[in-house]
Amino acid sequence: MTANDILSGLRNRTIGQQIQIYDQVGSTNDLALQCGIDGAQEGTLILAESQTQGRGRHGRRWQAPSKSSILASIILRHRLRASQVGLPNLIGAVSIATAINELTKLSTQIKWPNDVLIQGKKVSGVLTELEYDRGRQPFFVMGFGLNVNMTKTDLPEELRASATSLQIEIDRETSRVSLLQAILHRLEEDYLHLKHDETDPIIAVANGLLYRSDDWLTIETAEGSFRGHAEAIDQDGGLLLRDRNGKRRKFLVGEGLQTGRETSKNQ
Ligand code: BTN
Repeated sequence: MTANDILSGLRNRTIGQQIQIYDQVGSTNDLALQCGIDGAQEGTLILAESQTQGRGRHGRRWQAPSKSSILASIILRHRLRASQVGLPNLIGAVSIATAINELTKLSTQIKWPNDVLIQGKKVSGVLTELEYDRGRQPFFVMGFGLNVNMTKTDLPEELRASATSLQIEIDRETSRVSLLQAILHRLEEDYLHLKHDETDPIIAVANGLLYRSDDWLTIETAEGSFRGHAEAIDQDGGLLLRDRNGKRRKFLVGEGLQTGRETSKNQ
């Protein structure tokens, strides 16, 4: 995968206009946060063929053999309102889920707030982090990992029941360049919607893709744990859960740690 491969055929005006691609880094998110602090241009895309310190949410690790995956981080300079902080994760997940479906015809779902699932197994995760640059202007980094050309044995053993890759699902390899281009096209569109405060269509798509497991979800918060069924994603990108008494509660991204059957140590 080279920057020229990706740029040829990319119609975007913002996302991916600057591309840095590395054989190995600690974490593309860490690198993107540093570049963002140092003033890198909006839309700068940082890619790596492998990571030694790939990070997931809640301190988990993200692991993938070299050249098997898409490991990407994008610097975005839109000033998010407090109520919007959950939206980048969702936009990332919607873009990835839609692009996978376009290219492979696999049916995809979103497990709020940041996972993309195929047949209930995680194929991709998004990690959005907020920072300030040297001019004290806020920006955020949207990072994602997507398991593309990985076999079952490439997955850590403890994840084989809960994670998957495109190759495992369709039994052939997928072009990472074509897939990344499709994701970047969709991301650019949705990011422009976010900037113009036109997020209803994105939320509608996210709700159409929402993974509503029959299992109870448990969300641990500072005030205790809450068990319920995922009902819908609201306008802010928050999750509405309904408990066994029919009581509804809204969770924002970062408010709680989701636990339950699907929790895993890595990925
Ligand atoms: C999650 O599911 O918990 C989010 C995983 C995000 C992993 C990606 S891989 C590229 C980027 N760099 C990182 O260190 N993390 C994200």
